[in-house]
Amino acid sequence: MWLECIECRHKFDIGSRFYTCQRCGGLLEVELDLTLIKKKLKKNNLDLKPPSVWKYRDFFPVIDESKIVSLNEGGTPLIRCDRLSKEIGVDELYVKFEGANPTGSFKDRGMTVGVTKALEFGVKTVACASTGNTSASLAAYAAKAGLRCVVILPKGKVALGKLAQALIYGAKVVAIKGNFDEALAMVRRLCEQDESVYLLNSLNPFRLQGQKSISYEIADQLGWKIPDKVLVPMGNCANIWAIYKGFFEFDAVGITRGIPKMIGIQANGAKPIVEAIKRGQETFEPVERPETIATAIRIGNPVNGPKAIRAIRNSGGTAESVSDGEIIRAQKALAKLEGIGVEPASASTIAGLKKLVRQKEIKKDDVVVCVATGHLLKDPEEAIKVVGFSK
Ligand code: F0G
Repeated sequence: MWLECIECRHKFDIGSRFYTCQRCGGLLEVELDLTLIKKKLKKNNLDLKPPSVWKYRDFFPVIDESKIVSLNEGGTPLIRCDRLSKEIGVDELYVKFEGANPTGSFKDRGMTVGVTKALEFGVKTVACASTGNTSASLAAYAAKAGLRCVVILPKGKVALGKLAQALIYGAKVVAIKGNFDEALAMVRRLCEQDESVYLLNSLNPFRLQGQKSISYEIADQLGWKIPDKVLVPMGNCANIWAIYKGFFEFDAVGITRGIPKMIGIQANGAKPIVEAIKRGQETFEPVERPETIATAIRIGNPVNGPKAIRAIRNSGGTAESVSDGEIIRAQKALAKLEGIGVEPASASTIAGLKKLVRQKEIKKDDVVVCVATGHLLKDPEEAIKVVGFSK
């Protein structure tokens, strides 16, 4: 195992504690000796246990197993959606319902690995900036591990369910006047100036390792097959990369064959990566004042943008943006036709799917998975408002 810069390919020791390349400032990625894993891995053994993050432990850079901090994350349902797929015009549609994680979002998959690494490094305080879910998850795992937790949030812009979680799990919550991008810049400075504080935003390469388990589980739940297309909401743009990497590794060790086309969805008011993909650019222009009802992905300058662009390009995928109106209609359709309640950011994938089917970018016979990243109850106020109920 080693850390590798995705830009200059310089390798660093796996025990390093920095978050970006010390040579060129590029994003870091954890790389594993996949030949070794292939030799060690017995595929049949994988059939013996139900899906869960730690079922795929061989693919995580954890050194001291006694330090593992877990709330039994992962093992979320992959739900076949026949009524919704008929309406949209695809034959086989699944929703990976990440709202079923312990704190109600996919972030728990990353935090179980990230907070375990925090214990391995011997830190006492963990920190993050957040649009809400990251802070809720980090606060819970920090509580479980007995660590102090500091979170910086954009004031008045975080859904109530998420704020309530961070507070009750005992995090020190700092609400700032700026947006998420400014909150992240602030917490990065804090962690650079004070080495005793460990950063657990998605810039942290270890955290993303746990999020690879979304793809391991999808393949597992489809009987070790991969779908044709996977749609993922993009905010700070790490999850789409982690999911791509998971499929890449399963292909490399021979558990599955091929890599699904990764399709990133952003809201119209915060779509720097969609613009870059559509223009065929390698870099992106940040959006200064991001705005959308999907507060989780209300991000104008995604730090992991370069990873998202690689995930989309390397898999032959694409990116699309959707309006708030389309997001709300998709959220309601998923709830009413399938009984699946998700927050707006997650519904963006259903809205994106509709649009891409209309554009014939996604075909009727494609096997499609939409990753529904967060639970409906994260943002109850939005749900009540969009159904037009007066309290
Ligand atoms: N969906 C939900 C529900 C999220 O909370 C987030 C990110 C995303 C999608 C996007 O994932 O950033 O990896 O592209 N939420 C972060 C947070 C930014 O602070 O909770 P991404």
